[in-house]
Amino acid sequence: MTITNHELFESARTASKNAYVPYSHFPVGASLLTEDGTLFTGCNIENASFPLTNCGERTAIFKAISEGHQHFSALAVYGETEDPISPCGACRQVLVEFCQPDMPVYLVSKSMDVKTTTVGELLPYSFKNLS
Ligand code: THU
Repeated sequence: MTITNHELFESARTASKNAYVPYSHFPVGASLLTEDGTLFTGCNIENASFPLTNCGERTAIFKAISEGHQHFSALAVYGETEDPISPCGACRQVLVEFCQPDMPVYLVSKSMDVKTTTVGELLPYSFKNLS
């Protein structure tokens, strides 16, 4: 079964409903599509020790990696905001670790407006382990 972009965006929105955000009240959902057509979703998970918060994007990526998937074709990030939100620096660095620079990243707003970018655009000239 092929996942459409619409399904990808909707699954990111649905994932945001599981966000654990008692501190920011800022739910985020992410949906990551693997090359074999599997979807992994994630939400942000906050902690009373604030820096321990895990963003929605990294939750989705870590779920996929931990289930044995390392080849990805698209990511959608949903924020309940007027304008689409964009991944934080930590998530960009994790995306660079596992995704090709030309992989599309769809940033989806509350009204389902979509801004399309890529992993390479989000973090140009990135650090990679060259050893
Ligand atoms: N957050 C994400 O989950 N993804 C982003 O792209 C930006 C920020 C979360 C972290 C925190 O739980 C809340 O949004 C406010 O920063």
